Amino acid sequence: MKEVIKLTNIIDAHVHLRTIADKRMPLCTPHTAKFVSGMLPMPNTNPHIYTSEDARKYRQEIELVLKHFELLGTVDIFPTIYLTPQTNVNDLVAGYLAGDVFSCKQYPRGATTNSAEGVSGIKEMFPIYQVMEKYGIPLHVHCEMPMDVDVDIFDSEKFAIQEMLIPILDNFPNLKVSMEHITTKKAAELVSSGRYPNLVATVTPQHLLYDRNKMLRGGLDSNLYCMPILKRKEHMEAIRNAVKNDERGVFLCGTDSAPHFKTDKNECGCAGVYSAPVFVEAYVKAFMEMNVLEKLQAFMSDNFCKFYGYTVPEAMQKTVVVEQVEPWKVPDVYDGIVPLFHGEELTLRARVQ
Ligand code: NCD
Ligand code: ZN
Repeated sequence: MKEVIKLTNIIDAHVHLRTIADKRMPLCTPHTAKFVSGMLPMPNTNPHIYTSEDARKYRQEIELVLKHFELLGTVDIFPTIYLTPQTNVNDLVAGYLAGDVFSCKQYPRGATTNSAEGVSGIKEMFPIYQVMEKYGIPLHVHCEMPMDVDVDIFDSEKFAIQEMLIPILDNFPNLKVSMEHITTKKAAELVSSGRYPNLVATVTPQHLLYDRNKMLRGGLDSNLYCMPILKRKEHMEAIRNAVKNDERGVFLCGTDSAPHFKTDKNECGCAGVYSAPVFVEAYVKAFMEMNVLEKLQAFMSDNFCKFYGYTVPEAMQKTVVVEQVEPWKVPDVYDGIVPLFHGEELTLRARVQ
Protein backbone atom coordinates (compact mmCIF):
# COMPACT_ATOMS: atom_id res chain seq x y z
CA MET A 1 0.00 0.00 0.00
CA LYS A 2 1.43 3.27 -1.06
CA GLU A 3 0.43 6.53 0.54
CA VAL A 4 -0.89 8.98 -2.02
CA ILE A 5 -1.72 11.91 0.23
CA LYS A 6 -2.47 12.91 3.80
CA LEU A 7 -5.25 15.41 4.32
CA THR A 8 -5.96 17.22 7.55
CA ASN A 9 -9.20 18.67 8.86
CA ILE A 10 -11.42 18.11 5.84
CA ILE A 11 -14.54 20.24 5.77
CA ASP A 12 -17.53 19.41 3.59
CA ALA A 13 -19.08 22.81 3.02
CA HIS A 14 -22.22 21.48 1.30
CA VAL A 15 -23.78 18.17 2.26
CA HIS A 16 -27.32 16.82 2.52
CA LEU A 17 -27.76 14.80 5.69
CA ARG A 18 -31.60 14.64 5.45
CA THR A 19 -33.48 13.63 8.63
CA ILE A 20 -34.01 10.77 11.02
CA ALA A 21 -37.70 10.71 10.06
CA ASP A 22 -36.98 10.21 6.37
CA LYS A 23 -34.55 7.44 7.40
CA ARG A 24 -31.63 8.79 5.44
CA MET A 25 -29.74 10.71 8.12
CA PRO A 26 -28.51 7.66 10.04
CA LEU A 27 -27.52 5.98 6.76
CA CYS A 28 -25.54 8.78 5.18
CA THR A 29 -24.16 10.87 8.06
CA PRO A 30 -21.46 8.47 9.28
CA HIS A 31 -19.89 8.29 5.79
CA THR A 32 -19.20 12.00 5.88
CA ALA A 33 -18.72 12.49 9.61
CA LYS A 34 -16.05 9.82 9.90
CA PHE A 35 -13.68 11.69 7.61
CA VAL A 36 -14.43 15.35 8.20
CA SER A 37 -13.71 17.87 10.91
CA GLY A 38 -16.66 19.97 9.88
CA MET A 39 -19.79 19.73 7.79
CA LEU A 40 -22.31 22.24 6.55
CA PRO A 41 -25.64 20.44 6.26
CA MET A 42 -28.15 21.85 3.81
CA PRO A 43 -31.53 23.07 5.08
CA ASN A 44 -33.82 21.69 2.32
CA THR A 45 -34.96 18.93 4.62
CA ASN A 46 -38.59 18.04 5.11
CA PRO A 47 -39.69 20.16 6.93
CA HIS A 48 -37.20 22.87 5.98
CA ILE A 49 -34.88 24.64 8.40
CA TYR A 50 -36.34 28.14 8.41
CA THR A 51 -35.62 29.64 11.80
CA SER A 52 -32.86 29.73 14.37
CA GLU A 53 -34.97 27.38 16.50
CA ASP A 54 -35.21 24.94 13.57
CA ALA A 55 -31.43 25.19 13.15
CA ARG A 56 -30.85 24.48 16.81
CA LYS A 57 -33.13 21.47 16.72
CA TYR A 58 -31.58 20.19 13.50
CA ARG A 59 -28.14 20.38 15.06
CA GLN A 60 -29.44 18.34 18.01
CA GLU A 61 -30.86 15.77 15.62
CA ILE A 62 -27.52 15.44 13.84
CA GLU A 63 -25.76 15.21 17.20
CA LEU A 64 -28.06 12.38 18.23
CA VAL A 65 -27.00 10.43 15.17
CA LEU A 66 -23.33 11.29 15.70
CA LYS A 67 -23.65 10.06 19.27
CA HIS A 68 -25.09 6.77 18.10
CA PHE A 69 -22.03 6.25 15.89
CA GLU A 70 -19.64 7.45 18.60
CA LEU A 71 -18.69 10.44 16.51
CA LEU A 72 -20.14 13.13 18.73
CA GLY A 73 -17.62 15.86 19.44
CA THR A 74 -15.36 14.78 16.59
CA VAL A 75 -17.03 16.89 13.92
CA ASP A 76 -18.21 20.47 13.89
CA ILE A 77 -21.59 21.40 12.42
CA PHE A 78 -22.25 24.65 10.58
CA PRO A 79 -26.03 25.12 10.63
CA THR A 80 -27.52 27.04 7.74
CA ILE A 81 -31.09 28.19 7.26
CA TYR A 82 -33.36 28.15 4.23
CA LEU A 83 -33.79 31.71 3.08
CA THR A 84 -37.19 32.95 1.90
CA PRO A 85 -38.66 36.42 1.49
CA GLN A 86 -40.36 35.73 4.84
CA THR A 87 -37.12 35.09 6.75
CA ASN A 88 -37.32 37.03 9.98
CA VAL A 89 -34.14 39.08 10.21
CA ASN A 90 -34.39 39.60 13.96
CA ASP A 91 -34.56 35.88 14.49
CA LEU A 92 -31.72 35.35 12.02
CA VAL A 93 -29.42 37.84 13.73
CA ALA A 94 -30.28 36.53 17.20
CA GLY A 95 -29.60 32.96 15.99
CA TYR A 96 -26.34 34.02 14.39
CA LEU A 97 -25.13 35.82 17.48
CA ALA A 98 -26.11 32.87 19.66
CA GLY A 99 -24.15 30.46 17.42
CA ASP A 100 -27.25 28.53 16.35
CA VAL A 101 -27.01 29.76 12.76
CA PHE A 102 -23.82 29.88 10.72
CA SER A 103 -25.18 31.11 7.39
CA CYS A 104 -28.16 31.19 5.00
CA LYS A 105 -28.86 29.17 1.87
CA GLN A 106 -30.80 30.57 -1.04
CA TYR A 107 -32.64 28.24 -3.42
CA PRO A 108 -34.15 29.32 -6.71
CA ARG A 109 -37.86 28.62 -6.43
CA GLY A 110 -38.74 25.22 -7.83
CA ALA A 111 -35.38 24.50 -9.45
CA THR A 112 -34.17 21.61 -7.29
CA THR A 113 -35.15 19.17 -4.53
CA ASN A 114 -37.47 20.80 -1.96
CA SER A 115 -37.09 24.30 -3.33
CA ALA A 116 -40.73 25.25 -3.91
CA GLU A 117 -40.48 27.81 -1.11
CA GLY A 118 -37.28 29.32 -2.48
CA VAL A 119 -36.60 32.72 -3.96
CA SER A 120 -38.09 33.87 -7.26
CA GLY A 121 -36.71 37.38 -7.42
CA ILE A 122 -33.78 38.90 -5.58
CA LYS A 123 -35.13 42.44 -5.18
CA GLU A 124 -37.49 41.32 -2.43
CA MET A 125 -34.48 39.83 -0.65
CA PHE A 126 -32.43 43.03 -0.53
CA PRO A 127 -33.47 44.04 3.00
CA ILE A 128 -32.36 40.61 4.22
CA TYR A 129 -29.01 40.73 2.40
CA GLN A 130 -28.44 44.14 3.90
CA VAL A 131 -28.76 42.76 7.43
CA MET A 132 -26.61 39.74 6.57
CA GLU A 133 -23.92 42.02 5.17
CA LYS A 134 -24.00 44.18 8.27
CA TYR A 135 -23.57 41.25 10.67
CA GLY A 136 -21.22 39.20 8.48
CA ILE A 137 -23.68 36.33 7.96
CA PRO A 138 -22.58 34.34 4.88
CA LEU A 139 -24.92 33.59 1.97
CA HIS A 140 -24.81 30.34 -0.03
CA VAL A 141 -26.43 30.68 -3.41
CA HIS A 142 -27.80 27.88 -5.53
CA CYS A 143 -27.24 29.83 -8.70
CA GLU A 144 -29.92 28.77 -11.15
CA MET A 145 -33.04 30.47 -12.45
CA PRO A 146 -36.34 29.80 -10.69
CA MET A 147 -38.67 27.30 -12.37
CA ASP A 148 -41.13 29.93 -13.58
CA VAL A 149 -38.47 31.46 -15.86
CA ASP A 150 -38.37 29.91 -19.30
CA VAL A 151 -34.71 28.96 -19.65
CA ASP A 152 -32.92 25.90 -20.98
CA ILE A 153 -31.78 23.77 -18.06
CA PHE A 154 -28.22 23.72 -19.43
CA ASP A 155 -28.13 27.54 -19.48
CA SER A 156 -29.79 28.15 -16.15
CA GLU A 157 -26.60 28.78 -14.14
CA LYS A 158 -25.24 31.13 -16.77
CA PHE A 159 -28.41 33.24 -16.72
CA ALA A 160 -28.64 33.22 -12.94
CA ILE A 161 -25.08 34.56 -12.66
CA GLN A 162 -26.15 37.55 -14.71
CA GLU A 163 -29.65 38.01 -13.34
CA MET A 164 -29.21 37.07 -9.69
CA LEU A 165 -25.65 36.62 -8.50
CA ILE A 166 -23.96 39.67 -10.00
CA PRO A 167 -26.66 42.09 -8.80
CA ILE A 168 -26.27 40.66 -5.28
CA LEU A 169 -22.49 41.04 -5.43
CA ASP A 170 -22.68 44.56 -6.87
CA ASN A 171 -25.19 45.77 -4.33
CA PHE A 172 -23.66 44.08 -1.28
CA PRO A 173 -19.89 44.17 -1.74
CA ASN A 174 -19.21 43.17 1.85
CA LEU A 175 -21.58 40.21 1.89
CA LYS A 176 -19.73 36.89 2.05
CA VAL A 177 -21.13 34.81 -0.82
CA SER A 178 -20.48 31.19 -1.71
CA MET A 179 -21.69 30.13 -5.12
CA GLU A 180 -22.64 26.51 -4.58
CA HIS A 181 -21.72 23.57 -6.81
CA ILE A 182 -20.49 25.52 -9.81
CA THR A 183 -20.87 23.87 -13.21
CA THR A 184 -19.97 26.41 -15.87
CA LYS A 185 -17.02 28.20 -17.39
CA LYS A 186 -18.69 31.50 -16.61
CA ALA A 187 -18.92 30.64 -12.91
CA ALA A 188 -15.35 29.33 -12.71
CA GLU A 189 -13.98 32.43 -14.37
CA LEU A 190 -16.04 34.84 -12.32
CA VAL A 191 -14.94 33.29 -9.04
CA SER A 192 -11.27 33.08 -9.95
CA SER A 193 -11.19 36.57 -11.50
CA GLY A 194 -10.98 38.26 -8.12
CA ARG A 195 -13.50 40.85 -9.29
CA TYR A 196 -15.48 40.09 -6.15
CA PRO A 197 -13.15 39.54 -3.18
CA ASN A 198 -15.96 38.14 -1.01
CA LEU A 199 -17.01 35.47 -3.48
CA VAL A 200 -16.00 31.81 -3.24
CA ALA A 201 -17.42 28.63 -4.75
CA THR A 202 -17.89 25.02 -3.79
CA VAL A 203 -17.13 22.34 -6.37
CA THR A 204 -18.57 18.81 -6.28
CA PRO A 205 -16.55 15.73 -7.20
CA GLN A 206 -18.87 14.89 -10.11
CA HIS A 207 -18.43 18.30 -11.69
CA LEU A 208 -14.64 17.91 -11.54
CA LEU A 209 -14.71 14.36 -12.87
CA TYR A 210 -17.41 14.26 -15.51
CA ASP A 211 -19.12 16.06 -18.31
CA ARG A 212 -22.68 15.38 -19.40
CA ASN A 213 -21.72 12.52 -21.72
CA LYS A 214 -21.00 10.38 -18.69
CA MET A 215 -24.65 10.75 -17.66
CA LEU A 216 -26.31 10.62 -21.06
CA ARG A 217 -24.28 8.38 -23.33
CA GLY A 218 -25.14 4.68 -23.67
CA GLY A 219 -28.31 5.04 -21.60
CA LEU A 220 -29.26 7.59 -19.01
CA ASP A 221 -27.52 7.23 -15.63
CA SER A 222 -29.95 8.93 -13.31
CA ASN A 223 -27.50 8.44 -10.44
CA LEU A 224 -25.43 11.22 -12.01
CA TYR A 225 -28.42 13.47 -12.49
CA CYS A 226 -28.14 16.41 -10.13
CA MET A 227 -28.83 20.12 -10.08
CA PRO A 228 -27.12 22.04 -11.53
CA ILE A 229 -26.90 19.39 -14.23
CA LEU A 230 -23.56 18.18 -15.62
CA LYS A 231 -22.50 20.35 -18.56
CA ARG A 232 -20.35 20.06 -21.68
CA LYS A 233 -16.69 19.08 -21.44
CA GLU A 234 -15.47 22.64 -21.98
CA HIS A 235 -17.18 23.63 -18.74
CA MET A 236 -15.64 20.78 -16.79
CA GLU A 237 -12.26 21.79 -18.17
CA ALA A 238 -12.78 25.42 -17.21
CA ILE A 239 -13.65 24.39 -13.65
CA ARG A 240 -10.58 22.15 -13.51
CA ASN A 241 -8.44 24.98 -14.80
CA ALA A 242 -9.76 27.42 -12.25
CA VAL A 243 -9.28 25.00 -9.36
CA LYS A 244 -5.82 24.10 -10.61
CA ASN A 245 -4.69 27.69 -10.84
CA ASP A 246 -6.43 28.89 -7.70
CA GLU A 247 -3.91 31.13 -5.98
CA ARG A 248 -6.50 33.09 -4.01
CA GLY A 249 -7.99 30.10 -2.21
CA VAL A 250 -11.53 30.58 -3.46
CA PHE A 251 -12.56 27.03 -4.36
CA LEU A 252 -13.89 24.87 -1.55
CA CYS A 253 -14.83 21.25 -1.01
CA GLY A 254 -18.61 20.94 -1.04
CA THR A 255 -19.67 17.49 -2.11
CA ASP A 256 -23.39 18.24 -2.49
CA SER A 257 -23.79 14.59 -1.55
CA ALA A 258 -27.55 14.26 -1.97
CA PRO A 259 -28.95 10.82 -1.11
CA HIS A 260 -32.21 9.65 -2.66
CA PHE A 261 -33.40 6.08 -2.26
CA LYS A 262 -33.00 4.03 -5.42
CA THR A 263 -36.76 3.56 -5.55
CA ASP A 264 -37.27 7.35 -5.62
CA LYS A 265 -34.59 7.77 -8.25
CA ASN A 266 -36.33 5.15 -10.37
CA GLU A 267 -39.72 6.69 -9.92
CA CYS A 268 -39.08 10.40 -10.35
CA GLY A 269 -35.41 10.68 -11.22
CA CYS A 270 -34.89 12.94 -8.19
CA ALA A 271 -31.87 15.20 -8.57
CA GLY A 272 -28.83 14.39 -6.46
CA VAL A 273 -25.59 12.40 -6.53
CA TYR A 274 -24.76 10.37 -3.44
CA SER A 275 -21.03 10.84 -3.10
CA ALA A 276 -20.58 10.63 0.68
CA PRO A 277 -19.31 7.01 0.82
CA VAL A 278 -16.48 7.77 -1.63
CA PHE A 279 -16.07 11.53 -1.55
CA VAL A 280 -12.45 11.61 -0.41
CA GLU A 281 -11.39 9.10 -3.05
CA ALA A 282 -13.38 11.00 -5.67
CA TYR A 283 -11.65 14.31 -5.01
CA VAL A 284 -8.22 12.65 -4.85
CA LYS A 285 -8.93 10.95 -8.19
CA ALA A 286 -9.94 14.28 -9.75
CA PHE A 287 -6.89 16.13 -8.41
CA MET A 288 -4.63 13.29 -9.58
CA GLU A 289 -6.12 13.52 -13.05
CA MET A 290 -5.52 17.27 -12.91
CA ASN A 291 -1.96 16.70 -11.71
CA VAL A 292 -2.32 19.06 -8.77
CA LEU A 293 -2.47 16.89 -5.67
CA GLU A 294 -0.49 19.58 -3.87
CA LYS A 295 -3.54 21.86 -4.15
CA LEU A 296 -5.91 19.42 -2.49
CA GLN A 297 -5.27 20.32 1.15
CA ALA A 298 -6.19 23.95 0.53
CA PHE A 299 -9.30 22.93 -1.36
CA MET A 300 -10.45 20.36 1.20
CA SER A 301 -9.95 22.52 4.28
CA ASP A 302 -7.68 25.57 4.35
CA ASN A 303 -9.71 27.69 1.94
CA PHE A 304 -12.82 27.21 4.06
CA CYS A 305 -10.99 28.20 7.23
CA LYS A 306 -9.52 31.27 5.60
CA PHE A 307 -12.74 32.51 4.03
CA TYR A 308 -14.92 31.99 7.08
CA GLY A 309 -12.24 32.88 9.64
CA TYR A 310 -12.56 29.45 11.23
CA THR A 311 -10.12 27.43 13.29
CA VAL A 312 -10.74 23.70 13.71
CA PRO A 313 -11.03 22.91 17.43
CA GLU A 314 -8.42 20.54 18.75
CA ALA A 315 -10.89 17.72 19.48
CA MET A 316 -12.10 17.78 15.89
CA GLN A 317 -8.76 17.72 14.15
CA LYS A 318 -8.35 14.66 11.95
CA THR A 319 -5.85 13.26 9.51
CA VAL A 320 -7.08 11.21 6.60
CA VAL A 321 -4.65 9.04 4.68
CA VAL A 322 -5.40 8.08 1.11
CA GLU A 323 -3.57 5.05 -0.22
CA GLN A 324 -3.08 3.29 -3.50
CA VAL A 325 -4.59 -0.17 -2.95
CA GLU A 326 -5.53 -3.33 -4.82
CA PRO A 327 -8.68 -2.63 -6.85
CA TRP A 328 -11.82 -2.74 -4.72
CA LYS A 329 -15.35 -2.62 -5.99
CA VAL A 330 -17.59 0.18 -4.83
CA PRO A 331 -20.92 -1.38 -3.77
CA ASP A 332 -23.82 -1.04 -6.20
CA VAL A 333 -25.89 0.29 -3.37
CA TYR A 334 -25.42 1.44 0.23
CA ASP A 335 -28.56 1.00 2.33
CA GLY A 336 -30.89 1.38 -0.63
CA ILE A 337 -29.02 4.38 -2.06
CA VAL A 338 -26.80 4.16 -5.14
CA PRO A 339 -23.44 5.86 -4.59
CA LEU A 340 -21.08 7.65 -6.94
CA PHE A 341 -18.77 5.08 -8.64
CA HIS A 342 -21.35 2.32 -7.98
CA GLY A 343 -20.02 -1.01 -9.19
CA GLU A 344 -16.75 0.55 -10.37
CA GLU A 345 -13.30 -0.52 -9.25
CA LEU A 346 -11.19 1.99 -7.37
CA THR A 347 -7.51 1.79 -6.56
CA LEU A 348 -7.63 4.53 -3.94
CA ARG A 349 -8.87 4.16 -0.41
CA ALA A 350 -9.19 6.67 2.38
CA ARG A 351 -8.84 5.92 6.08
CA VAL A 352 -8.68 8.00 9.21
CA GLN A 353 -5.25 7.93 10.79
C1 NCD B 1 -30.06 18.38 -3.86
C2 NCD B 1 -30.97 17.50 -2.99
O1 NCD B 1 -31.32 16.39 -3.41
O2 NCD B 1 -31.33 17.93 -1.90
N1 NCD B 1 -30.01 17.86 -5.18
C3 NCD B 1 -29.11 18.13 -6.14
O3 NCD B 1 -29.32 17.69 -7.27
N2 NCD B 1 -28.02 18.81 -5.91
C4 NCD B 1 -30.52 19.79 -3.80
C5 NCD B 1 -29.53 20.80 -4.29
O4 NCD B 1 -28.49 21.00 -3.67
O5 NCD B 1 -29.79 21.41 -5.33
ZN1 ZN C 1 -27.07 20.59 -2.50
